[in-house]
Amino acid sequence: MRDWTLSKALKGESIALVPTMGALHPGHLALVEKAAQSADRVVVSIFVNPTQFGPSEDFGAYPRNLDEDLAKLAKQGLTNVVFAPDVKQIYPYEDNFSWVEVAHMGDHLCGASREGHFRGVTTVVSRLFAVVRPNYAVFGLKDAQQFFILRRMTREMGFDTQLVGVETVRDEDGLALSSRNRYLTPHEREQATVLSRSVALARDLIEHQGERNALSIISSMESIIGEASEGRQDYVSIVDTQDLQPVASLEAGQTVLAAVAVYFGKARLIDNAIVEVK
Ligand code: PAJ
Repeated sequence: MRDWTLSKALKGESIALVPTMGALHPGHLALVEKAAQSADRVVVSIFVNPTQFGPSEDFGAYPRNLDEDLAKLAKQGLTNVVFAPDVKQIYPYEDNFSWVEVAHMGDHLCGASREGHFRGVTTVVSRLFAVVRPNYAVFGLKDAQQFFILRRMTREMGFDTQLVGVETVRDEDGLALSSRNRYLTPHEREQATVLSRSVALARDLIEHQGERNALSIISSMESIIGEASEGRQDYVSIVDTQDLQPVASLEAGQTVLAAVAVYFGKARLIDNAIVEVK
């Protein structure tokens, strides 16, 4: 991987990296498309990263099917290299002492219920950046907290990589595509539209109704989440995108993230709207 990267850099070709954990769906393929528009060469990494899963999370059960993923990427025809290292290549030291951590930004939203998750994400993405040395790295805005944490890490650590965010790809009824949607029963799948409906409402309240009180937006979102009898709310929150801290009242010029997470059985689904306050 390093040799390939170096040979392209010497020829003056730019590289875009799309980090994934596999189980590719059209959301991932949209990132690859964006990568191909951004750079001369596209690298897709497929690595189910153990350090971002908590002890009670689905690391063992996470869907892995490299052959299917390779076929999807080949069919799309935009990827130059698939980098699929094994755990020992990314974490060669059994007693790993080095972590990359972005303080405070993992305290709320998904970080609150997934201790150590974002430290695992920032560490593995740092290692991928060190090997691939991409000019661009493309991430989905569905995982908005991840995107804003990685953006801050890239800037503060001085990586020479530009982060590119891609809009969430959705099913026809609005549900954000996710490898975890496969865990839903048909009944849960129907109710799962409460996520996209609640963040669309937040956007409308801020952009069109002039609502500036975070608590009142949150309570409107919660009443939509409450419509799903099979769902169990994890969080509904409005934070500033710079530091990911909760805001009480929205100020003009601020960009906020209205985010939700809801459990359906063992699946935990997330969605969000990123809104500029005018
Ligand atoms: P993974 O869940 O495989 O997601 C890989 C990328 O696809 C992420 O940037 C994610 O935001 C994006 N993505 C997922 N669903 C999407 C959708 N419906 N629309 C648009 N983009 C979508 O996120 C990770 O892996 C890992 O944390 C990783 C960054 C690879 C580090 O291990």
